[in-house]
Amino acid sequence: MKQALVIGASRSLGTHLASNLAANGWQVVGTGRRPVDEVPQADTFDYVRLDLSKASEVPRFMAEAGAGGYDLIVHNAVTYGSVQGNPLPELDELEAMFRVNTLVPYQLLHQLLSAQPADRFCSCVVINSDAIYHANKNSAPYAATKAALRVLTTSLADAFRSAPVSVATLVLGPLPDPKKLEDFEKVSQRHGLSVDDVTRTYLRRSNPSYVIDRLIDFESCYRSVEYLAGLGPAANGTVCRLDGGSAGSLI
Ligand SMILES: NC(=O)c1ccc[n+]([C@@H]2O[C@H](COP(=O)([O-])OP(=O)(O)OC[C@H]3O[C@@H](n4cnc5c(N)ncnc54)[C@H](OP(=O)(O)O)[C@@H]3O)[C@@H](O)[C@H]2O)c1
Repeated sequence: MKQALVIGASRSLGTHLASNLAANGWQVVGTGRRPVDEVPQADTFDYVRLDLSKASEVPRFMAEAGAGGYDLIVHNAVTYGSVQGNPLPELDELEAMFRVNTLVPYQLLHQLLSAQPADRFCSCVVINSDAIYHANKNSAPYAATKAALRVLTTSLADAFRSAPVSVATLVLGPLPDPKKLEDFEKVSQRHGLSVDDVTRTYLRRSNPSYVIDRLIDFESCYRSVEYLAGLGPAANGTVCRLDGGSAGSLI
């Protein structure tokens, strides 16, 4: 049975990816910080706790993971920190975001790919964000962590070009995460509008380059991961954008 690792599987998109891979015949290990009883659909995959704010968690996870390797690794975990809307966060907060979103994942992915057995091909898909194309004072700290992750993902693709590994980036646009849906519902009730109307207005205002009227659904994200995994070695270095045209007409 093919084995997948989904890093950041304890809620939202990550849960969707892990549970759908499992439903489609994969044996899935999914990670998160929260205890298992707070993880939706945790009965559909093997849940392992992993806190990316601590570098010491990497060797622990590697030791527990064993030497068999994976056929697919999806890196999805992220923190938005408490700094959104604050253009000058404390250094500690900035460092914490970079640790979770960029630095520890880079080390973890590097070690996972280094440990991949020579006779087992692994597709690695790193989830990134269209925030890297249109940062502003509110989103810049988060966007900077994802931009740095994007650059380090290129380094992984280069470092493992001769290994049985491909490293691809999936850049996503605005998702129907629980917080966004809750906010849209509140606005729709306050103004007597439909949620579809609120969504359309949000998308037009949040980025004029978007050419979508709906959020990017989780199923399309899942199919994009499957697609990138299905490309095999040709996916190495690929950037696949499912982002509603966030960067405008040229990129
Ligand atoms: N939401 C959007 O609109 C949007 C748009 C574009 C791209 N994206 C990208 O899509 C991916 C998923 O986004 P999302 O909004 O669905 O994220 P989310 O709901 O906040 O879920 C993030 C996941 O990361 C885990 N995580 C957070 N802090 C962690 C830490 N210190 N150590 C280990 N794991 C940690 C969470 O685990 P716990 O909950 O257990 O802590 C959870 O499983 C991210 O890579 C994001 O950049 C999202």
